[in-house]
Amino acid sequence: MLTARIAVLVSGGGTNLQALIDCQVRGGLKSGGLSLVIADKAGVGAIGRAESAGIPCQVIPRREPDFEGKVSSALEAHRIDMVVLAGFLGILSGGFVRRFPGPIINIHPALIPSFCGKGFYGLRVHQAALDYGVKVTGATVHYVNEIPDGGKIILQKAVDVLPGDTPEMLQRRVMEQAEWVLLPQAAELVAAQIVREKENTL
Ligand code: GRF
Repeated sequence: MLTARIAVLVSGGGTNLQALIDCQVRGGLKSGGLSLVIADKAGVGAIGRAESAGIPCQVIPRREPDFEGKVSSALEAHRIDMVVLAGFLGILSGGFVRRFPGPIINIHPALIPSFCGKGFYGLRVHQAALDYGVKVTGATVHYVNEIPDGGKIILQKAVDVLPGDTPEMLQRRVMEQAEWVLLPQAAELVAAQIVREKENTL
């Protein structure tokens, strides 16, 4: 059975990676397989999650010289078809995005085009939403291009902002109700598209 080989790039606790792992375990990733995890920082929680799930995991520190070249080599070595950025804090250059032959998707913890782009990551996104006073926020999965959070939107899910929310409370609700739901769904949609394209070339 043809499947898309998926690499997940991570920088932190890995709860979005865990959502992908849990989805794969329950058979929700029909068209793709988690084949590689790359952490751009040593010692982060996502590494342990990958290891517990038996997924090959490499640490390539973001500050290392030729970081993108090393990532490209790892993707090639593992015959990766698509890349998922899951809590990944690095910004991939336009050159890297153009060179990688397959789709790259990212989860952003807001309803793009709100609260996105350069400098909007992690708690800062939720702080900005609270500062603005929006009553609804959410998460977006989008294709990655050379513009931070600029690629075509794949899926979005709205989440209520509640009175008394702190950035931490809002972040947790957006992760639980939106990010961890959307990312596996989007990964399966994109992987299924890759499989269809592979089948058409047979
Ligand atoms: C969270 O702020 C999440 O909204 C964003 O990255 C951060 C950590 O994600 N996507 P994870 O737990 O490392 O997946």
